[in-house]
Amino acid sequence: MCNVLGKFYKRCLFKYRNKRYKYCVRCGSSKDKPTKGGSMRILNLYAGIGGNRKLWGDEHEITAVEREPKIAAIYQDFFPKDKTVVADAHQYLLDHFKEFDFIWSSPPCPTHSRARFWGYGKKNPVYPDMILYQEIILLKHHAENKWVVENVNAYYEPLYPPQKLGRHYYWSNFAIGQPNFKPKAKMIKEATNTERQEMTGFNLDKYNGINKMVILRNCVEPELGLHILKESQRDIQGELFR
Ligand SMILES: C[S@@+](CC[C@H](N)C(=O)[O-])C[C@H]1O[C@@H](n2cnc3c(N)ncnc32)[C@H](O)[C@@H]1O
Repeated sequence: MCNVLGKFYKRCLFKYRNKRYKYCVRCGSSKDKPTKGGSMRILNLYAGIGGNRKLWGDEHEITAVEREPKIAAIYQDFFPKDKTVVADAHQYLLDHFKEFDFIWSSPPCPTHSRARFWGYGKKNPVYPDMILYQEIILLKHHAENKWVVENVNAYYEPLYPPQKLGRHYYWSNFAIGQPNFKPKAKMIKEATNTERQEMTGFNLDKYNGINKMVILRNCVEPELGLHILKESQRDIQGELFR
């Protein structure tokens, strides 16, 4: 059953490399996806060192986009099989979003963050960075694959209602159930770098010239990243955000 059209797969059959697949291009529901052995083409935008990606395994074809060369180099060290691109993720999304089965985007959060607003943002206001909503709107209206955009809890009422898990907001075209574990996000915020390394599973001891605290705090909890990837593959009855 197609989740968007509410019809059976045969109404949504499409042709890919001269073969017909029972895969709905509108909602992603699938009995027979055109990928090898269950692997997907995944686009991981604003990749950081790969907190969200940490537990995704090596069976997928993953392209990671990160603007900071030093951070991208660490990502590449941790995930040598991924294709790591040093580029502007926002432009990369626009140019390539049709080429992937699943897209994860983590646009920068400081201008939306509640913590920053209550810290010093009230006295020194800046415009909220609208690339967050540009990406949500683009994906919502143009993407036919599964996608999720992640950001922190905002200090204002979000323009589109997100799904909330731990300290993060998620906008997606699939329903994300609450995980059966308690997100560690609050602890990650309050922890020391050594504790953060243990919680995220990243050892940054051999790297210099980077802000380890910021990089580790930026990480989405790996277990949550895996939970969300799995949720994107679960066929759902109703569409939450279309
Ligand atoms: C919140 S972190 C991402 C965390 C990542 N999702 C994780 O779980 O580890 C955001 C990252 O985006 C990078 N970044 C910021 N602006 C960017 C841009 N325009 N293009 C690519 N990367 C960018 C930053 O250097 C930072 O590493």
